[in-house]
Amino acid sequence: MKIIRGTSTSVVPVLPEGWTPTAGADPLGESNRLIGAPVSRQDGRTAVRGENLFAGEHRMDRMVYAAIRHSTIARGLITDLDVTAAETAHGVILVMTYRNAPRMQPTPAVFSGPTGFAGGEAPIMQDNTIHWNGEAVAVVLAETQEQADYAASLVAVTYQESAPRTFITAKAHARTPDHLFFQPVRSSVGDAETALAHARHAVDETYLTPYQNHNAIELHALTVDWTGDNVVVCDATQSVKLHAATMAHALGIDPNRIHLQSSYVGGAFGGKMVWSHSILAAAASRLAGRPVRLTLSRKGVYRLVGGRTNTEQRVAIGADSDGHFTSLIHTGFSSITPTNYVAEPFTFPARHMYATDNLLTDQRVVDIDMVANAFMRAPGEAVGTFALESAIDELAVSLGMDPIELRLRNEPDRDPSSGKPFSSRHHVEAWRRGAERFRWEPTSQPGLRRDGEWLVGTGCASATYPHQRFPGGAARLTLDRDGCATLELAASDMGMGTRTTQMMITADRMALPLEAVTVLYGDASYPGTFQAGASSQTVTIAGAVIAAHRNLVSELLALAGEGSPLSGANVDDVGALDGGLCLLANPEKWQSYASILRRAGRDHLTAVGVAATPDELSAYSIHSYGAVFCAVRVNAVTGETRVERVVGSYDCGRIINPRTAASQLRGGIIMGLGLALLEETVVDKRSGRILNPSLSDYHVPVHLDVPQIDVLWSDHPDPLAPVGARGVGEIGITGVAAAVANAVYSATGRRVRELPVTLDKLI
Ligand code: MOS
Repeated sequence: MKIIRGTSTSVVPVLPEGWTPTAGADPLGESNRLIGAPVSRQDGRTAVRGENLFAGEHRMDRMVYAAIRHSTIARGLITDLDVTAAETAHGVILVMTYRNAPRMQPTPAVFSGPTGFAGGEAPIMQDNTIHWNGEAVAVVLAETQEQADYAASLVAVTYQESAPRTFITAKAHARTPDHLFFQPVRSSVGDAETALAHARHAVDETYLTPYQNHNAIELHALTVDWTGDNVVVCDATQSVKLHAATMAHALGIDPNRIHLQSSYVGGAFGGKMVWSHSILAAAASRLAGRPVRLTLSRKGVYRLVGGRTNTEQRVAIGADSDGHFTSLIHTGFSSITPTNYVAEPFTFPARHMYATDNLLTDQRVVDIDMVANAFMRAPGEAVGTFALESAIDELAVSLGMDPIELRLRNEPDRDPSSGKPFSSRHHVEAWRRGAERFRWEPTSQPGLRRDGEWLVGTGCASATYPHQRFPGGAARLTLDRDGCATLELAASDMGMGTRTTQMMITADRMALPLEAVTVLYGDASYPGTFQAGASSQTVTIAGAVIAAHRNLVSELLALAGEGSPLSGANVDDVGALDGGLCLLANPEKWQSYASILRRAGRDHLTAVGVAATPDELSAYSIHSYGAVFCAVRVNAVTGETRVERVVGSYDCGRIINPRTAASQLRGGIIMGLGLALLEETVVDKRSGRILNPSLSDYHVPVHLDVPQIDVLWSDHPDPLAPVGARGVGEIGITGVAAAVANAVYSATGRRVRELPVTLDKLI
């Protein structure tokens, strides 16, 4: 009899001294039967058949279509509004403006408190004030989308315009934000400025990154029906619970009256949360007494959904002749609005990555008139690693040292800013494995390798992203008399394979085949608060599954009672085996789940579990690490950069599902290539208006821009993370822009310190 339970060496972790696990291993730990196997997404087949219904595809009886009229100024007042032509246009049901919109509360913004999940807190269509260029000034409902679009064009708006604040004009009034993602804004060890002034070798440079917009394949869309006291919503979101609570707050109704579903999300990357269009659609449904479908146009997404803010970063490093850092300084500015709290935390990597005698990180924000900036894949680390890892490359050049060697010489043995121990850090291994796979060779002089009119170069950079496990994780686990399990949880799956991964984890814990597990998610009425964000969801759910499973096993043992081979055992005495439980001390003593339920006369058994609080996060420094390598060719005539090859080598704890994880890492790298070479929102400085709100003018990588990408990982389980995993959603984008810019330097001898690296910066 083969024991399928968690005693294999890769499962039971070595705990740091003095640490008691709160959510980690237990005798019902995971086997490696499914975890680690490349399992295809279970919703893949229906996805390619177009059978997965997205939020804007749900049909409701008597449904009408919405169109939005956007403001053409960034700051000022509406002085006149004429809706007569729109109201009398064919098929029009309602024109909603600030004059007839229901009274609503501001939406609690992300980071305003633990549950805020809106982009910003600017009042939504409550008065004649304009807060950004593109804000909604009218919503038109009509029987068809075309009628609504046409009527929206008939709304006549007159404005009194004031000059908008821009990054350049408002920088003199920069302020210190209250916090950076709830972390202190400043970190300091020793006296970094003095140490820099006395350093034998130093770099001190400024790096710029642009504003970027979200371009998920699925446009932001929802279908909503407000009837009586209830609001039924199908919306695209990264957190059903927080989304429902935030909508309820804005609409002034009890959260239990919002019935929110978000089964399929067509990409999100940080951009699918509560934005004004969701509130407006619900309000319009209430006024019209009809269900409303609102699908933003691509342009509409640029106007109403915030993206990654621009940054101006200073990185200064002082080093001795051996390359040891005597000082590391990372400071700078990013834009924000007066109604949101997302201060892009680009200084986070410098706090955790390198040993240094003296350290200083600090940030300021500049209030400008734009749609509230928000999250975009690895907010902070994506652009912060561009500056930090470019500066390290610059220092390596001035020291005449291989850039990998320079990084390895500054590998810390505990967290440089907090002094806390690392839970698990295999960054050096990631560098070694990556360098071997890439066949890295130190370059001496830049600009010397040439192939016809192409200059050839290679570059590398560190990748990193913090581990997160959020409080509030809970799950409901039900076992039926056929021995099948159903897991219910308020999680979101935006395409990365959450459902599949949690099927694997649950099936392994229960020693069931994959097909015997159903995962129900994407509905705010299910238990638990989760966010498909901060690369946190897999482990936050795993903590909840562990808790629910332990409770379920306790109840099973109580049901089994006298006469069962398991009689007298408690949850820590048993393991899962072949669709049942056995005594750890004597696996011959076994009883199937079905038999336990049958003998107790039960159809099913349900248990709810709440994950342990994430105390590990405050006691340890828990991060993922990586090394990114790339080879580029830069055309000596046109300045065009082509990326030839990328290797990403990662240390991100245990990999649950290599197929979906590789896709996440590769997708992150591809988005990193966009950050490096293509993506840039162009804003008109006078009007605050986005000038390139379309995929024809705002460029993201297409197939021809994506080279061969190898991803590899070390697969060391993190002893402090449930199931040993640290999340893979975001680390892939980090380090990529620096690796590309460093490779461009190696090819051309030109150091580009402003993203994206476009050809005008190279000729
Ligand atoms: Mo991610 S930017 O936390 O969705």
